[in-house]
Amino acid sequence: MTRYQHLAKLLTERIEQGLYRCGEKLPSVRVLSQEHGVSISTVQQAYSVLEECQLIISQPRSGYYVAPKKATPPLPAITRPAQRPVEITQWDAVLELVNARLDTSVLQLGSGMPDVTQPTLKPLWKIMSRIAQRQDLQVLNYDNLYGVAALREQIARLAVDGGCQLSADEIIITTGCHEALSIALRAICTHGDIVAVESPAFHGTMQTLRGLGLKAIEIPTDSVSGLSLEALELALDQWPVKALITVPNCNNPLGFIMPDARKQGLLTLAQRFDLAIIEDDVYGELAWEYPRPRTLKSFDDDGRVLLCSSFSKILAPGLRVGWISAGRYHDRVLHMKYISTGSTATQTQMAVAAFIKQGHYAPHLRRMRSLYQRNLDVFTYWIRHFFPSGICVSRPQGGFLLWVELPEAFDAVRLNRELRPLNIQIASGSLFSASGKYRNCLRLSYAFPFDERMQQALADVGRAVDIAMRACRPEAREAGPAEGMQEPALANNPSIGRQTV
Ligand SMILES: Cc1ncc(COP(=O)(O)O)c(C=O)c1O
Repeated sequence: MTRYQHLAKLLTERIEQGLYRCGEKLPSVRVLSQEHGVSISTVQQAYSVLEECQLIISQPRSGYYVAPKKATPPLPAITRPAQRPVEITQWDAVLELVNARLDTSVLQLGSGMPDVTQPTLKPLWKIMSRIAQRQDLQVLNYDNLYGVAALREQIARLAVDGGCQLSADEIIITTGCHEALSIALRAICTHGDIVAVESPAFHGTMQTLRGLGLKAIEIPTDSVSGLSLEALELALDQWPVKALITVPNCNNPLGFIMPDARKQGLLTLAQRFDLAIIEDDVYGELAWEYPRPRTLKSFDDDGRVLLCSSFSKILAPGLRVGWISAGRYHDRVLHMKYISTGSTATQTQMAVAAFIKQGHYAPHLRRMRSLYQRNLDVFTYWIRHFFPSGICVSRPQGGFLLWVELPEAFDAVRLNRELRPLNIQIASGSLFSASGKYRNCLRLSYAFPFDERMQQALADVGRAVDIAMRACRPEAREAGPAEGMQEPALANNPSIGRQTV
């Protein structure tokens, strides 16, 4: 047996004997190397063996922790929304979430903000200041309606990775993906029309439907394979549905990637019912799999897919640079773009074009993908540790959003209120339903590096969830705390585990 195997065995025995308890921080690499008289790399090798066996988890900049004994939580079941078109509610709650975005005293566990602090974004700052220094009049003048040509060329190149052959002329720049979705809907629908949406779905899409006087028919959606084609077919048989809005790659909020065969099946169905498809691809490039998954648009041979995206989730939402490639609806979309914002501000378009052209985009994307994937491991580890059993958790295939489903009687809106004094905000599942369903679900973000504040917050949320779940299940009130809710973390971090709610 080699030295590292010997050390791995010893540590395994200690964990099994409960000498290191779940959630507890293990000795640092340096301490172990001194204690056992072995090299740093021997300890690292031993730890990576334990990591592979899922006995421990490494947390960047923090160290190694013993993994919870609890089994990985099951996946959320396929959703069962109302089977008729409904009017959209929830605006007040969405406004509250959006208004809280800039409050730095609140830990935004429910927000859709990417991490914009990474060094791979530094060239973007430099490019933006160079553009300002050049005093290029293009920045101050009106742009044409289509947007900066250099950017559209770069977008056409990037689209190839998703399997799409687009020319720059087929692309219209928008103010974020939000505007792209809104002008797509306006180009296709009129007041009172019915639009099919995944259920749950991004609240921005839902509120756009509301603002345009459109009704939503929510389609059951699976957290692994996406929209149910069978349910969509039934809806199309029954109702005059004008369009479908879908996020097939790294879905918000469920995190799935729709398999290619289902994407093809969806296109066939759309052709049969002459349905327009608005494809939202804002997270598509953040898939763990490489090459990135294909867009629906790449399967489209009769121009019915309007592909909408932006640089908000990959680079930064403050740039407000998005785009649409609208196929057969191009001219109408251009008109809606004109009446919506006229032309889009040019400086950030020019900056993004230069950032891509100078070769900064691909390394940044690689870094963000691996950071988010790593964050997901750490985040789900702590959810397993701090949250009670009896929950279902999505397994995102990309992006930075997690969906947690709790028992039916649970109320996440109330949970959010209870977390307010602790300066923590989650997104209640009800924001992602047209009619306020999914109050028993939460959307959480793992975009940001996991630090002590985050760990503390997850401990607080887990404890609050545990208390609320006990209140939902009277028979459980008598039982002791759920596994993973006990004290181990207290041993190492006095701030964790404090009674907060
Ligand atoms: C699925 C989805 N589509 C669109 C948007 C809006 O993107 P943008 O910020 O580019 O307008 C978001 C933002 O959260 C989103 O999650």
